[in-house]
Amino acid sequence: MSDLFSKFDDLIALREGLLSSGMTDPFNLVMEKVESPTVAICNGKRTILLGTYNYMGMTFDPDVIAAGKQALDEFGSGTTGSRVLNGTYVGHRACEDALKEFYAMDHAMVFSTGYQANLGIISTIAGKDDYIILDIDSHASIYDGCAMGNAQIVPFRHNDIEALEKRLKRVPEGAGKLVVLEGVYSMLGDIAPLKEMIAVSKANGAMVLVDEAHSMGFIGENGRGVAEAQGVIDDVDFIIGTFSKSVGTVGGFCVSNHPKFEILRLVCRPYVFTASLPPSVVATAATSIRKLMHGADKRAHLWENSKRLHAGLRQLGFTLGTDEPQSAIIAVIMPDLEKGAAMWEALLEEGLYVNLARPPATPANMTLLRCSLCAEHTGDQVEEILGMFAAAGRATGCI
Ligand SMILES: Cc1ncc(COP(=O)(O)O)c(C=O)c1O
Repeated sequence: MSDLFSKFDDLIALREGLLSSGMTDPFNLVMEKVESPTVAICNGKRTILLGTYNYMGMTFDPDVIAAGKQALDEFGSGTTGSRVLNGTYVGHRACEDALKEFYAMDHAMVFSTGYQANLGIISTIAGKDDYIILDIDSHASIYDGCAMGNAQIVPFRHNDIEALEKRLKRVPEGAGKLVVLEGVYSMLGDIAPLKEMIAVSKANGAMVLVDEAHSMGFIGENGRGVAEAQGVIDDVDFIIGTFSKSVGTVGGFCVSNHPKFEILRLVCRPYVFTASLPPSVVATAATSIRKLMHGADKRAHLWENSKRLHAGLRQLGFTLGTDEPQSAIIAVIMPDLEKGAAMWEALLEEGLYVNLARPPATPANMTLLRCSLCAEHTGDQVEEILGMFAAAGRATGCI
């Protein structure tokens, strides 16, 4: 019998090698208690959270929690059904209404996760004879959506407008074309030149889908994302987003002005063939989304935090993913996995949680310590974080 697990042997050996030195497993941390959007207890110790993508800190918002509790009492713990059968409650519709208002768009469709939103929308609108032109650094859910729909995949170099244009011009005449972009790329925290890329896409007859998972709630005057900030949101055909970051719960969505959009509810398999979100989750999401419409002060504070951390880390001598802070993600580039893992553990011992990221998730084989800031981090916490980076960096020889 051949062992189907043998393909994982290299990864198992790498992992065992790292863990045999006695280090904590960076991919198996348990949060014993979560006190707020910025503090948890890990290994019995107060730990500042700097790797949760909880950008707007909505997870402990009293109105959000109250809405969830009320829905739990009134509608029970789950729907036990698909959206197209018994799984659409008033709360799911209310959540879609909140999204339509938030984005000022005609249609909104809520999925059980952001992963499923990309999987569902991309695989349903782009089929076997269609072409998907996408940034090579796209999220796994985008690639999986392309594969599921069996479309022709044409990747282009990250954020390269000319490369996108060249690929578009090579697509056979008359073929369906979908350009897939992200507002913020979550590995390095850099933003896309959406204005130029969308102009090039439209000039070449393509529809455009933008995943704004890491910009919703924070970037743009109304928190609608990078497309809003760059003044091109009206040219985007589909925006994909998630509730698992700024919204502070779980779920995914697509919003659009396409006149035939509603048909997707009948033909999109990751929407039809899975259970819908629990009523408490859609109630927390809808409340959070409505509050994010009035989140200008929080957005301003989050920008301050991002700038402060970026400048402080640079001053300490760390190499960062972007020259300027472009989002709420700041990526610290580590020389290799061993140093990255050692630094990750030293930070945890200091009382700071960040994300360790390694290939294949990262571009160009990089090992990264990804920091995601929260609007609820205080200025003092950011200073404390910088102190922890200084101590851990010196202890591990990273600076
Ligand atoms: C760009 C992007 N799209 C989609 C997703 C999937 O979101 P969810 O956590 O809701 O499945 C993520 C999550 O990490 C993401 O970074």
